[in-house]
Amino acid sequence: TSPAEADPNATEGIEPAVPLRSKKWFNDPTDLGMSALYTERYLNQGLTVPELSPKNRPIIGIAQTGSDLSPCNKYHVELAKRVRDGIIAAGGTPLEFPCHPIQETGKRPTASLDRNLSYLSLVEVLFGYPLDGVVLLTGCDKTTPALLMAAATVNIPAIAMNVGPMLNGYSGQKLIGSGGVVWESRAQLAAGEITEAEFLHHVALSAPSAGHCNTIGTASTMNAMAEALGMALPGSASIPAVYRERGACAYATGLRIVQLVREDVKPSDIMTKEAFENAIACCAAIGGSTNAPIHLNAIAKHVGVQLDCDDWERVGYKLPLILNVQPAGQWLCEEYHRAGGLPAIVAELLEHDALPHPSALTVSGKSIGANCRGDLSQDRRVIVPFDKPLMAEAGFLHLKGSLFNSGIMKTSVISKAFREQYLSNPNDPMAFEGPVAVFDGPEDYHHRIEKSPNIGPGTILIMRGAGPVGYPGAAEVVNMIPPGELIKKGIELPCIGDGRQSGTSGSPSILNASPEAATGGMLGYLKDGDRVRIDLLKRTADVLLSESEIEERKNEVGSYQFPKSQTPWQEIYRGSVSELSEGMVIKSAVKYQRLAQTQGI
Ligand code: FES
Ligand code: MG
Repeated sequence: TSPAEADPNATEGIEPAVPLRSKKWFNDPTDLGMSALYTERYLNQGLTVPELSPKNRPIIGIAQTGSDLSPCNKYHVELAKRVRDGIIAAGGTPLEFPCHPIQETGKRPTASLDRNLSYLSLVEVLFGYPLDGVVLLTGCDKTTPALLMAAATVNIPAIAMNVGPMLNGYSGQKLIGSGGVVWESRAQLAAGEITEAEFLHHVALSAPSAGHCNTIGTASTMNAMAEALGMALPGSASIPAVYRERGACAYATGLRIVQLVREDVKPSDIMTKEAFENAIACCAAIGGSTNAPIHLNAIAKHVGVQLDCDDWERVGYKLPLILNVQPAGQWLCEEYHRAGGLPAIVAELLEHDALPHPSALTVSGKSIGANCRGDLSQDRRVIVPFDKPLMAEAGFLHLKGSLFNSGIMKTSVISKAFREQYLSNPNDPMAFEGPVAVFDGPEDYHHRIEKSPNIGPGTILIMRGAGPVGYPGAAEVVNMIPPGELIKKGIELPCIGDGRQSGTSGSPSILNASPEAATGGMLGYLKDGDRVRIDLLKRTADVLLSESEIEERKNEVGSYQFPKSQTPWQEIYRGSVSELSEGMVIKSAVKYQRLAQTQGI
């Protein structure tokens, strides 16, 4: 099942299952005037008529997400050359084009704001240009869902290809992983243990080569999800960016997309409810990012599959964590890849009848079960046995109550210290309650966290105004660190918020609270000192106020007021976006489905 085994000649010369879409532009006998007009300007880049117009020569888009502004994905500028080679070898013609950049670490106020913008622009490109299929060059966190969402909406044959993780970072012999090092070093800086210069030095050690984050953050998670959904070639997601295999994988992806067009296998054939359930199972097994439910729920909405956070708990919660990679484990993505990558995770699940739908189709042309069965772990330190897991129940808990209708908690990162502090009452082992300290967005938190006199052991930190509308795009800020004095004593504080949390964070926060404060959610009406109760057994999150007190509160203060938009897109975004639990999609976009099939050209 190696990506490099794809055969360039497997379907060459075979009539496509349906007429090629691009012929409407380049070879429409009923409209020669327009065909000539379309064709001449594509010829001026040195292409020849046979490359654009023979009967069975698919035109394949390459959606390029790499650039100087998006360094995580920049290696795709090189890899695209091998994708092109594959497309040409299989008898297609590649046309590469740029996507709106989304760099997780560089975009203010948050890269997440741009996911829907990149989605929208790619929908227009895929719908409006002469493309029969597309290779989606994915990588950094939001690039993967943005591109899959667009492929889902337009529904032309598509394969995702990840840029791949960076090599391992080291400090001496110690592994230094993306993201985690930032959280650790920030806590050390806050506690006065290291200088600013040492902080920057540590953080830079985690980024030693081209590629995306080398932990199981949102980038690794979302590319694993693309592969688990069946939208990427088996074994492709985990190959480090600069490994030889990554170039071979790019070539194989180019070959395969041409065949997929000839076979007319579309995203809607692959991304079924069954495929999403497989992805949820894999997410639990790898200890995936809490951004995954947001993005997968969004992709599902655009392809017309019903999926919500109850599905995440139902399918994923009971499954074990079997990948020993940071932040939930010990190693980094090079070890993950050498242990077998996602196929070894899937194979382990299959051995224990724990992959919900082995027969789900993938872009390889075979089912996920056929792709992966028997590809067991090559390194049991890294991908551990199913029956000797790192944690028995590793999926997300879906909480509901008077505090919000939907919020999730990643149980695989609940630390021993947190369990001892909050989940060890013998009469009530899975519940805790305490007074809240409320912050109106990340800036307020940073200004006040060290100066708030009432924060002590047992305080629950609340972050509001950090949802899709409040902080356009939803800020990754729910994992708040306690004041320096408490950190020094080893005290953790529970966090609850209407924003997101970085996929590389190891904090057991309750996040993605929907509805958010800015759209009338209860978090907007909380006051310092209100008591909140969380019961993980009952899956509840409640504010300990009576119904009449809640009513009164809602009349009294009005909803949380969010800051002004800074750009036109922020305003448009705020007026159109759905809650985090609903995938944070553009509400009016969801009704546009299967554009390539339903709307003609
Ligand atoms: Fe781009 Fe992590 S910042 S992948
Ligand atoms: Mg992130």
